[in-house]
Amino acid sequence: MYQPIRLFDDIFYVGVNDRRTHLFENMWPLPRGVAYNSYLIKDEKIALIDTVEIGQVEKFINKISAIIGDRAIDYLIINHMEPDHAGSVSIIRNLYPEIKIVGNKKTLPMIEGFFGIHDNVLEIKEGDELDLGSHKLQFYMAPMVHWPETMVTYEASKKVLFSADAFGSFGTLDGAVFDDEMDFSYFHDEMRRYYSNIVGKFGSPVQKTLEKLKGLDIKVIAAAHGPIIRSHIQEVIDWYHRWSSFDTDQGVVIAYASMYGNTEDMVEVTARALAEEGIKEIRIYDVSKTHSSFIISDIFKYKGVVLASPTYNNGLHPNMEALVNKIQHMGVKNHCLGILGSFTWAGTATKRLKEFGESLNWEIIDHPVEEKHALKKTKYDECRMLGKLLAEKLKN
Ligand code: FEO
Repeated sequence: MYQPIRLFDDIFYVGVNDRRTHLFENMWPLPRGVAYNSYLIKDEKIALIDTVEIGQVEKFINKISAIIGDRAIDYLIINHMEPDHAGSVSIIRNLYPEIKIVGNKKTLPMIEGFFGIHDNVLEIKEGDELDLGSHKLQFYMAPMVHWPETMVTYEASKKVLFSADAFGSFGTLDGAVFDDEMDFSYFHDEMRRYYSNIVGKFGSPVQKTLEKLKGLDIKVIAAAHGPIIRSHIQEVIDWYHRWSSFDTDQGVVIAYASMYGNTEDMVEVTARALAEEGIKEIRIYDVSKTHSSFIISDIFKYKGVVLASPTYNNGLHPNMEALVNKIQHMGVKNHCLGILGSFTWAGTATKRLKEFGESLNWEIIDHPVEEKHALKKTKYDECRMLGKLLAEKLKN
C-alpha cells in the first residue's frame, strides 16, 4: 500500500530517498543521503516531471502505479539530463511506450546519446506552453543550472515551479516532505553544500535564471532534491542570490594540512588572533580528515579563508593540492586569503598558495608566513599579525 503525497489534489510527489549511496557523483559525501524528486500531474493528460536515479526505479514505478493505475503517462518532461534525474528514462519509455518525451533542443541529442531514443519526442522552447487540461506547463531555459540543457517548468494554475537542481538539497526526506512539516534549518547547510559543490561554478548563469524567473508568481518550489518549499520561498531565493554572487558572511574558514603538527601550530596561533580581534565565526578543518565538500560549502558562507600547508615533495601537501584544485576549478570569487606554510629544507607551499589566490583574484593578506622546522617566536608573532590583518579586513 502506498499513500500518495499530494502537493495539490492532482499534483503528486513521486520521488524516492537514497540512504545507500555514499558519494553523490561518486565524489561528494552523503552522510544524510539524498532524495531524487519527481512529480506527477494527473489531468486529462498525465505528465511526469523528471525521473529518478536508476537504482531507485522500482520504488519510483510503484508510486506512479499507485496513483494512475492502468492509465498511461502522456508526457515525460525532462528538466535535467544528469542521471540522478534522467536515469530511469528508458525504463519509463519501455513501461509506457506511447509516452512523449519533452525537452529542448539541447535535451533531445542527450536523450538520443544516453538512451538511443529519438522517436516520439517533443521539442519545446522558452515560453512554450503544454496543455494538460486544467494544468498548463510553461518552460523556461536555465542553462548551466546545472548542465547546458537544464530548464525549469512552471505550472501556472497552482503556481508551482519545478526547478530541477535549483533550490535542491542533499539529505533525504525523513517523513516530512514539505518545508513547513519540518525544522527547515536542518536543510540550510545541506542546500548550500549542494549548491556550492554541484552548481557553484555557475554563479553567473544562476543569476540570469533568477532574473528571468523574477516575474513569476511562485507559491511552491518543487526542486529535484530536498524538501518541497512553500513557506520559505523568498528566503531560499535570497540564499541563491547571495551564493551565486559570492556574497558571504563575516567569518573565516581555516583549512590546513599538517603531517606532524608544525603547520597546525601556526593555524592555532592565527585562529586565536582572529578570535581576539572579534571574529566569532571561525571554522578549522584538517583537509586530511574533513572532505572538501564541507570545506567548500563553508567557503561559500564565509569571506575569510586561511590555507596552511607544509611543503611536500617540493609542492603542497597532496590533500591541500586537491582542495585548491577543486576551488580553482569552481572559480570561487570574492574572498580574502591568509597563507601559512612550513618546511624542513626548502619551502614552496606558500608560493603555490599565493599563485592559487592570485588566479582567483582573491585579496591576499600581506604577507604569507612560512616557518622552517618548528614554530618559533618571530613567525609566531607573524601568525598573530596575519590573523589581526585578516580580521581588520573582514570587519571593514
Ligand atoms: Fe541533481 Fe545536476 O543533477
